[in-house]
Formats: sequence, C-alpha cells, structure tokens
Amino acid sequence: MKSIMVQDAVMIEGSEQWMAGVAGAVGGPITGGERLRHWGASEVWRLQVGGAVPRSVIVKRGLGEMADEARRYRELVMPLGVPAPRLLAGGGDVGPGVLVLEDAGPGNLEQQPSAEGYRAAVRALALMRDAAARRLALNPGLGAGLRMSTADFADVARRVAAGLAALRPDLAGRLDGPARTLVERLDRLAGEPVTIVHGDFHAKNLVLTGDGRAVAVDWPVAYLHAHLGDLYSLLREAGRLGLTGRVGADALPALFARESGTDERTVADRMVTGGLCWTLLVLRWLLAEGIDVIPESRGWLDELVADCEALAAPH
Ligand SMILES: Nc1ncnc2c1ncn2[C@@H]1O[C@H](COP(=O)(O)OP(=O)(O)OP(=O)(O)O)[C@@H](O)[C@H]1O
Ligand SMILES: [Mg+2]
Repeated sequence: MKSIMVQDAVMIEGSEQWMAGVAGAVGGPITGGERLRHWGASEVWRLQVGGAVPRSVIVKRGLGEMADEARRYRELVMPLGVPAPRLLAGGGDVGPGVLVLEDAGPGNLEQQPSAEGYRAAVRALALMRDAAARRLALNPGLGAGLRMSTADFADVARRVAAGLAALRPDLAGRLDGPARTLVERLDRLAGEPVTIVHGDFHAKNLVLTGDGRAVAVDWPVAYLHAHLGDLYSLLREAGRLGLTGRVGADALPALFARESGTDERTVADRMVTGGLCWTLLVLRWLLAEGIDVIPESRGWLDELVADCEALAAPH
C-alpha cells in the first residue's frame, strides 16, 4: 500500500489496513483516491481500483451510522428494488463500520444546482417511491421493522416537546397544536399504501449520474411511510439557498404529480404532512445530539418551530 498516491490520506493512521480490506473485497488493487468528506470519526472516500477494468468505488467509514445505513440497504433499498448505488461490500466482510458502494457519478446537486438537476431529483424520487410501493404491494411485510406508525410520530412529538421545554422554556407548548394536527393528518393517511422515505433528501445526497439522471445516496435514516417529506425538504432547502427561482422549484410538485400519477392536491397535502414529520424528526435529532455536535444549530430551533406552526395552519 505504501506506493500508492492517495491525496491527503497515507498520513491517516490505520488507513492502510482498511484500504487493504477494501482491495480484497473489490478484487483489485487500490491505485489512488481522494477523501470526499471527513466529519469527526466518519469519512467518505473515492478510491481508484486497478485491474483488468479500472474503476472507482465509494467507501464510507464510521461506526454507528454505517451500521444504520447497512441495515437500510439490507431491509429497504435492496428488497424493495429502490434505485441506489449498489452496495459492493459492507457489514463485516471489509471491517467494522465500512461500506463499499458503486460510484454513481462525480458530482452532486449541491455542487451543480440547475433546473435540470432538480427535475432529475424529482424524477428519481418518483421512481424510488414507485419501485418500493410495487414490491410492498406484493409483499407487505417487507421492511416491517422500519415502518413508522402514527404512534411512533406521536412519540417523536412528545419527546421533542419535552426536550424543547427543558432547553427553551420560552418555546414550551408551541408544538402542542402542530402535534395534534399531525396526528389527525396521519390518521387520514393511515389506509394509504406506504413507500420509501429517504429522510435526508437534500441536494448533497443527490448524485448526478452524467446521463441526465440523479440517484439518492446516504440512506441511514430511511423508513417506510406514505408522506412526502422528501419533496418538502428538497424544496425547503432550495428556498433557504435562494435557488427557488433559478431551479424552477415552484414547478416541481406538479412534475412530481405527473411522474408519479398522483393529483396535485394530494401531492400538496402529503408534502404538508411530510413536512411536519420531517421537521419533528430534525428537532428530535437536534435535541438528542445535533446541538452537541453543531453548537450553532441551537439557533435553528425558532425557525423549525415556526415551520411546524405554519405547516399546521389550515391550508
Ligand atoms: N455511491 C456514490 N457515488 C458517487 N458519489 C457518492 C456516493 N456516495 C456518496 N457520494 C458523494 O460523497 C458525499 C458524501 O457521502 P454521503 O452523503 O453518503 O456521506 P455522509 O458522510 O453521510 O455525508 P453527510 O453527512 O454530509 O450527508 C455525497 O454528498 C456525494 O457527493
Ligand atoms: Mg450525505
């Protein structure tokens, strides 16, 4: 391993060992690579693999989240036939906390935002949901351990209310109304077929494949439900980045409706329900660990609470 040129890498203690594990798993020598992301104890690499047909693979390393992502691949992405980069190795055969994935393309939608890219992301979302819904219709027991119920979301709302009251007494009680509205909305959705929810459907997690398609990566928080929080969070982010006009975000719900064969009012309604679900899950993560990891995220609480109130207001 000493002879390879790996940008910013060979200095990392122990990297030779896991890279050797990856080389064994992919059946070729590692001839180069670059680190795409490094946060705390987790990192993402693009490694070049030599051999008869040279190629690149993506390697994600980190404890905890990698186990969560491997589980989503095993219980959701693979059995439900959801379009995603293929998992080439992971869950023990390479080493603890290591996933090796097919390289889906060089850039993501955060790096290259465009109207075309956002439309590709929305088509990818419609495809993901359609593929999962079809398999679930044939076999409703698939992914049962990762299905979120109304009771699960009511529990999330209770935890968020308690955490918020402790950290920010001035915000105590502000989520009582939104939580009641959410439960009513979820009860109305209860009979609808569930499908895959990515849960972190943001521009940086949408890889552009180079042939006009987008594919979602980074699956550790995926679950099953009928709501459309993924479309809500993609458009919310575009708005926060000031990209709404440039990427044609206002036209995307109608595109999703066409691509998925759903009527536009249903799309709008499921985005509201999904928006409440997504926002409460973000608040739960912030209160449980996010604020410790990213201290400035404490400043996001007011806006997220206001978002819940706006989503719960009559539409
Ligand atoms: N299979 C893949 N093919 C191509 N690029 C990928 C792939 N997986 C990840 N990437 C790229 O690497 C980046 C980081 O990967 P990923 O989002 O899976 O890791 P992460 O550490 O969970 O990131 P974050 O916490 O920032 O969301 C992605 O934003 C994407 O640009
Ligand atoms: Mg990511």
